[in-house]
Parts: sequence; C-alpha cells; structure tokens
Amino acid sequence: MTVLLDRPIVPSPASALVCRNCGAQFPLGAQHACFECFGPLEIGYDPTALARVTREEIEAGPHSLWRYAGLLPVGQNPATRVDSGTGMTPLIRADRLADELGFTAPVWIKDDSANPTHSFKDRVVSVAITAARELGFERIACASTGNLANSVAAHAARVGMPSIVFIPADLEPAKIIQTAIYGGTLVGVEGSYDDVNRLCSELGETDEFENTGFVNLNVRPYYAEGSKTLGFEVAEQLGWRIPGQYVAPMASGSMLTKIHKGFKELIEAGLVPASSWRVYGAQSAGCAPIATAFADGSADVQPVKPTGIAKSLNIGSPADGPYALDAVRSTGGSMAAVDDDEIRAGVRLLARTTGVFAETAGGVTVAVLRKLVEAGEIDTSIETVVFNTGEGLKTIDAVSEGAVPTAIIQPTLKGMRAAGLL
Ligand SMILES: Cc1ncc(COP(=O)(O)O)c(C=O)c1O
Ligand SMILES: [Zn+2]
Repeated sequence: MTVLLDRPIVPSPASALVCRNCGAQFPLGAQHACFECFGPLEIGYDPTALARVTREEIEAGPHSLWRYAGLLPVGQNPATRVDSGTGMTPLIRADRLADELGFTAPVWIKDDSANPTHSFKDRVVSVAITAARELGFERIACASTGNLANSVAAHAARVGMPSIVFIPADLEPAKIIQTAIYGGTLVGVEGSYDDVNRLCSELGETDEFENTGFVNLNVRPYYAEGSKTLGFEVAEQLGWRIPGQYVAPMASGSMLTKIHKGFKELIEAGLVPASSWRVYGAQSAGCAPIATAFADGSADVQPVKPTGIAKSLNIGSPADGPYALDAVRSTGGSMAAVDDDEIRAGVRLLARTTGVFAETAGGVTVAVLRKLVEAGEIDTSIETVVFNTGEGLKTIDAVSEGAVPTAIIQPTLKGMRAAGLL
C-alpha cells in the first residue's frame, strides 16, 4: 500500500478508507480493496470537519467543483488542485419536456456536457489526478468506455503528467480522436471494456506500473468522490435544498451512488434541510445487468456481454452494481432499461424540447424517464432532476439519420419559394 507522501498543508476532512462491505477502516492511501474481505473501499469523513463547512464559504469559492473542497478528500490546498474549471454546469428548467411527459412538478436537466471535455468524467478525473499527485504517482492511467479516456488524457496534458489510457478498440471515432489529440499514450484493446478493465488490474500489479495511478482502480475511492459534486451543485443551484427525486445513467453504478452519498453528506454537514428523495437508475437494454437484478428482486448482479449504441455505459460487470441497487431500493425508486431505438428517441426528445444535445448515455436517461412515467413508476408531481452526463457530438453517428437540412436552396427568394418555405 502506498501511504500519502505529500499531504496537503490544510488538513483534509477525509478520515479513513472505509470498506463498503464490512465497515473495516484503513489509513488514507492508494488502496481500493479491503484487506479483510476484498470489498471496495470508499472515503469516510470526520463529521466535525464536514460540519465546519458553511454555505457562505462555498459561495465565495471558485466557480468550479473546487468550491466544495471542504467536502472532498483532496485539494484543500489550492496549489495541489488539478483545476480545468470543471463543474458549476447549468441546471436547466425543462418545462417543455415536463409538459410533454405529463409532469405537474418541475423537471430539471443537470447538463454536465458543459464540462471542459464534455462529460461528467471531468469531475472524477479532477479529484483523481489531484489525489494521484498528492499520493506521489508519476504517471496516470485508466480503463475507459470513452469519456474517461477523453478526460484523463486532457487533464494529464494540462498538468504535464504522462498518461496511458486503455479503451476498447471499437469506440466511437469522436471519442478516440478526442483522446489521441491530447498526446498521451492511447491503447486500443481488442475486447470489451470488461476485458480492458481486467488487463488494467493485471498491469497494476506489475513493477512497471508501480508509479502509475489508475484513476478508476487504485485511486478509485478518491475518483468516485468527484461525482458527489453533481449532487452538491444541484442542491446549491436549487437554493440549498435536495430535489424530491433524480434519474441517473449507470455503467459501473458509481455516479448514481455518489450523488446519493453527496446528498446525505450535505445534510450531515448542516448545509441543507433534512429531506427524503428517490433515486432512479437508467441502463440500456444492450447492457442492463443492474436494471435486470432490480427487476428480478435480486441483490446479485449477473455479468452480461454488452451490446448497443450507448457505448459509454457498456460495463457488463459493474463494480458498484450492488450499491446502486441499495441506493434505489432504500429510497423507494426504480430502474429501467431502454433499447437503441428508444435511446435515439430520447436524444431527440431532449434536443427538441430543451435545446440540449446529449450523447447516447443522455438518451438512455431521458428514455428511461419516459418509460418510468408511462409505467406509472415515477411520481410526476415530484420535482425531478435528470442528469445529462455527456455531449451529443461525441456519438453523432447514432442520430445522424434524418438529421439533415429541411431543404437545400439557391440563395434567392425564388429558391425559398421553390422549397415551399415562402
Ligand atoms: C456519459 C456517461 N454517463 C454515465 C456514465 C456512468 O458512470 P458510472 O460508471 O459511474 O456508472 C458514464 C461512464 O463511463 C459515462 O461515460
Ligand atoms: Zn471489508
């Protein structure tokens, strides 16, 4: 285990790594599995340190996720932060979407495509690379379904760290180009994300990778905390309160669970009034191991071989599946999966009603919202936040059919008339 080499000058509110299975505690460091039961570790906080954080302090902070540094495990010292201006993305009131779906309460889109590399992954990467630097790693790596690759390569370039990024070789061209352009090492693996992840786990055990922080493997407890800032921002943007329910896409299931954890910590810190909320999870039918376990009433997530256009969500063996099931079941929420046609319709519905062009993962989320409404599984009288986690230009092929000019005309009034537009 690597011990923190270079602790920030300002003490962190994080107190320990805590096993999510058995509750065993370990010192903060580059460890991601429990020595007692091999369960995954997450960051535990000192409640008194959380309680010292004030709304005023946060509001006076930078216009980025680092305004929440007092609720994060790293980055208390601004000098150690990897800051690309990630976060404080728009929370858009989607009245036309709400009307079309029959909501009587407000529906909001948290549009995280507005981050520097156009997905929510900039949040987890900002925190993970800050942690990797504080932990003394010299190189940064990841196993990715696409968006993480974009973000790791970009942030490594920004801070001048070497990077090595592993992706399935058959990703969308835009995601491959957007990673390669930043100049690190990019390895296309002939296999699924789950194969890539297994390879990275093996590499992490080799001497050659001892100096390498894999953001979503050995730095994972820190990485995962970055997603809490989605929840923090939503609460702040709503005037310091937690919405009645939210819908989020799931690949590993981490982001959905961390938004939930973020809400709980806001209450613990006394930053928002105590309230209850429901959590809804979205998957694509081509890769729905968590939603299937939910439908079967099972706590066991059976691995699948992913297919389908929502490639960024194609994790067949989701590490946080059981915890996502817990978050959803314990709050009285639900899950659903949607097929490729429904996903495309979801992308178009959001674009047409809200002016937000989402990647296929956002299409999954909006299509699941629609499905849950139609099935009567979500209460349309409760204020709802829908997380759009990636940009439409990244998966443009998925919806290119029919997305053409209404007419091609000569630059004259006659041309307009000929096309029936005048
Ligand atoms: C656009 C997008 N949304 C959501 C997710 C889901 O993330 P998680 O693995 O935390 O469930 C991913 C994961 O890669 C993603 O790329
Ligand atoms: Zn354990």
